[in-house]
Parts: sequence; C-alpha cells; structure tokens
Amino acid sequence: MKRILVTGALGQIGSELVARLRQDYGADNVIETDIHAPTQTSDSPTGGSGPFELLDVTDGQRMAELVDKHQVDTIIHLAALLSVTAEKNPLLAWNLNMGGLMNALEVARQFGCQVFYPSSIAAFGPLTPRFQTPQDTIQRPTTMYGINKVAGELLCDYYFRKYGVDARGVRFPGLISHKTPPGGGTTDYAVEIYYEAVRTGRYVCPIAKGTYMDMMYMEDAITAVIDLMEADGSRLKHRNAFNISAMSVDPEMIRSAIQTWIPTFEMAYEVDSEKQSIADSWPDAIDSSAAHEEWGFRARYNLDATTREMIVHLRKKFAVI
Ligand code: SER
Repeated sequence: MKRILVTGALGQIGSELVARLRQDYGADNVIETDIHAPTQTSDSPTGGSGPFELLDVTDGQRMAELVDKHQVDTIIHLAALLSVTAEKNPLLAWNLNMGGLMNALEVARQFGCQVFYPSSIAAFGPLTPRFQTPQDTIQRPTTMYGINKVAGELLCDYYFRKYGVDARGVRFPGLISHKTPPGGGTTDYAVEIYYEAVRTGRYVCPIAKGTYMDMMYMEDAITAVIDLMEADGSRLKHRNAFNISAMSVDPEMIRSAIQTWIPTFEMAYEVDSEKQSIADSWPDAIDSSAAHEEWGFRARYNLDATTREMIVHLRKKFAVI
C-alpha cells in the first residue's frame, strides 16, 4: 500500500483507520472520501490532516477519476449501509452495498489496485453452526445486509480468479470504539452501552440477555486491516472473508465488566424485536484460526481491556471525572 483511497472514510471504521494509515503511510498518501464533507463538529480525528474528496460510491466514473487523479494503488472500500438500516430499505441497501463494491472492483481492475472489502458476521445465518463457526461453512444469511456481504465475498473471489484483482477482506464482528459512533447496526448496543454508562449511568438494552455475538475493540480491527493488506499473498489460501473475533459476549457480560469501573451502573432491557431477530440469526462465536494461520491475526483487547479503554476515553471525551 502506497497511495490509499478510503471510501466511507468518515464512518466508524474509516475515521480511525485513516488516522492510523496517515501515521504509517504519510498524510498525503491517504485520500479520505465520503458522501458528505467533514463538518466542523465532526468527531473525525483526521479532520484537515490530508486530502479529502467527495465521493458517492455508486458513481463509478467519479471513483475512477479520483483513483486516476491521486495515482491510487489501494482502495479500502468501507461505504455501506449496516444491518438494521438495510432491513428498513432493502433496495437502497442492495444498490449502495453491491453497486459500491462493484465499482470499487471494476476501478481496481482498470487501474491495477489492491482492494480491501469488509465482510461481517452477518454473512452467516440460522443454519450456520453457532459455536466455533468454521471459516468455510454453510452461510445462508436471512438479512439483506448479510445477503450483500455473501455476494460481496463471492465477487471479491471472482475478481481475483478472473482478473487477478488482489481483493482481500475479513468478516468483522461488532466493533467497539469511542471516537466515531456506528449507525444502523445490530451490534451498536455494545458501543451505546459504554456511552450511556459514562454519561448517565443507565442503559436500556435493545438486545436480550443471553444473546452472544462476536465483538472486537477498534484498534484490533484497524491492525487487522493493515496486517492483512500487507501480508504475503502467497501465504493466503482464502484471501478474503477471513473470520476474525476478539471476544464472544452477551449484554450481561458487558454490564458486569462496566460495573467493575462504575459500580452504580444500571441496565434494563427493552428488547427491539427487529434487532433481536437479526442477532438471533448470527453465530455466537466464530473461529478465527484461518486468519491466525494464514496472516498471523491476533486480537490484543479482550472484554476487560476493551472496557478499560472505553471508560477511560469516554470519561475524557465527556469530561467526567
Ligand atoms: N456491526 C454490523 C451490524 O451490526 C455487522 O457487521 O450491522
């Protein structure tokens, strides 16, 4: 990776990834793009530190022009609608999630770029083995977002086989971060719970106790993207859609981890049936061993370490002592 274009750069992953890429590869070598311009009040830690361009990822011509203009060799394609939003507008999700990826792959084919594509635990479904979910297994997701993710995984494989496009990716679990909040995802509760714990000391959880999902602290997710993209391609048997996870947790586990820091923290449940049914269709705990073996993936933050980082940073952010 020398000249990197990031789509959806102002989102939850993009805002932290761009900051790290600019440190590692040089500010001018990382082109931030998003459908909206950054605002003054935006929490993006990257604001103004390097090139920014407006890009609607469904506009393939504009994407090609930007790749050409900035002499890009790597496209990190993050722009997407997440699971809950996609269920509310499936047609928009298909057009944005698939149209955007197709444009990224086509532009990569024309300009010889490497591509990163984030898949998700959403690429699995109710027929998938729930525990130690294997790298290669039955998928059959039941959400539009999951269908997009499986189709995306297959498209990346296709572009590699047919055209030699070096398209790599992981299946992200829910990502926990304190800089830019996620939006429209089923795993968002695992971020909101920390914000509310620090801000108000109370949280009403939309996901039922006993619902286990894989999660990861953002710093591990960012490291995974860079490590996979820099990995020796000859060692990769899968290349894209690697299972990766740092922990499998339910809301009660997060509650009790928070209570070691904030003993007065209270949590109630008001289960959101739509979010719950999405969560119920996903695995409890996926097996990350292929990622470990093929490119050395290893998560550094477990639930306790994640909780410490979240509480300390959010206390600073909201000036809570
Ligand atoms: N975090 C995403 C969601 O909840 C899953 O990839 O939609």
